[in-house]
Amino acid sequence: MKRVALLLPALALGLSAVAFAERGAKQQMAEIFEAMRFLLPLSLDEQQFSDPAQRDKIEQALALLARSGSLLEEHGRREEAGFSYLSRALAVDARDIRRRFEAGYVQETQFLVQQLTDTCIACHSLLPSKNARLIPRLAREETLERLPLEQRAKLAYATHRFEIALESYEALLASEHFSATDLDMMGYLDDYLELCIRVRGDLERPAAALEKFATRRDPSPALRDELTRWMASLRELARRKPARSALVEARALLEQTQDASRFQDERDALVYYLQASAALHRFLVRPPKAPADLAEAYYLLGMIETQVGKSFWLSQAEAYLEAAIRAAPRDPVALRAYDLLEEFLVAGYTGSAGTHVPPDIQARLDALRALTDEPQPTL
Ligand code: HEC
Repeated sequence: MKRVALLLPALALGLSAVAFAERGAKQQMAEIFEAMRFLLPLSLDEQQFSDPAQRDKIEQALALLARSGSLLEEHGRREEAGFSYLSRALAVDARDIRRRFEAGYVQETQFLVQQLTDTCIACHSLLPSKNARLIPRLAREETLERLPLEQRAKLAYATHRFEIALESYEALLASEHFSATDLDMMGYLDDYLELCIRVRGDLERPAAALEKFATRRDPSPALRDELTRWMASLRELARRKPARSALVEARALLEQTQDASRFQDERDALVYYLQASAALHRFLVRPPKAPADLAEAYYLLGMIETQVGKSFWLSQAEAYLEAAIRAAPRDPVALRAYDLLEEFLVAGYTGSAGTHVPPDIQARLDALRALTDEPQPTL
């Protein structure tokens, strides 16, 4: 899937994602869900997906997905930078998938439909949710129950069934079908922690689950070490009193990630990063009046994404860092955001064949650099 270019020039920062959910997302989410609950289970079965008898239905579902994706994109434009980026990513991909199917690329469509769940998860992971059901009647849990655990966890997360997702991840962590290393490599520990900490604001539950996971026979010494650090962080943060402002709290948490006596690398500090990002998302629910505070919150979110973000191709780092620069271009934080953005993109586009920052990306970097009103760096 190609990386979605960002277009945030008219970024208005007045509305939070929560307000968005209350006002307009319900209808689109109902439609997106309607499309996906047909497409996803079907996409897990190659024969069914390529069955000509399903063609019309698939086409209709993809059309619905593309249409509601575009509407979501419209709404999303007024939201905070990460949300806005992901609603655009969903819309672009939904349109792309539809075109590919129409052009006859059935297997590719099948694969891309499954991949789209990453975007659903990325967006749902941003917001705290008590699992209030907006669309109770659409809750068809049987589809989920028939799936293998790993699919069930992912699809439940993607379709906002957080309790089922949590239970599935917990069952997965206890499963003998996978080694502890595989579970770790496939990112299930990270997904699970993110869901507990950011969406559920629950630190006790993952502490208990990790403790249980650590009783398995097979975690490597390195993984055990990581588990120990994560459990200690979870317990510590559970006891901690929140600071007077969520921004102050995020700053303090991030400062602690720099403590080299506790954390050797960024993954060791994952729990701290997730807790800090949860605080920042809370902070952005009511965007601050001071542009420098807004810029800082975006900068810190972007920095966290560059440290513990899951994939370059769906990274919100660029959106956050760009938003930081635009929020307060003359503030020193804008320069820090610019430097990090440049470093992130250059690293992302650097492969075995060298560095290939696409010209449009370079042009955008230059424009952002100009905004900060500093002399061009000599390269
Ligand atoms: C840009 C952000 C964003 C993206 C992308 C996104 N969602 Fe959502 N979704 C939301 C928000 C916001 C809510 C409501 C949150 C709340 O109230 O807790 C929601 C709620 C839902 C719900 C309602 C759950 C219920 O029981 O009421 C479903 C289902 C859902 N999304 C499915 C999907 C699927 C499937 C995808 C991917 C194809 C997706 N969403 C992609 C933001 C997003």
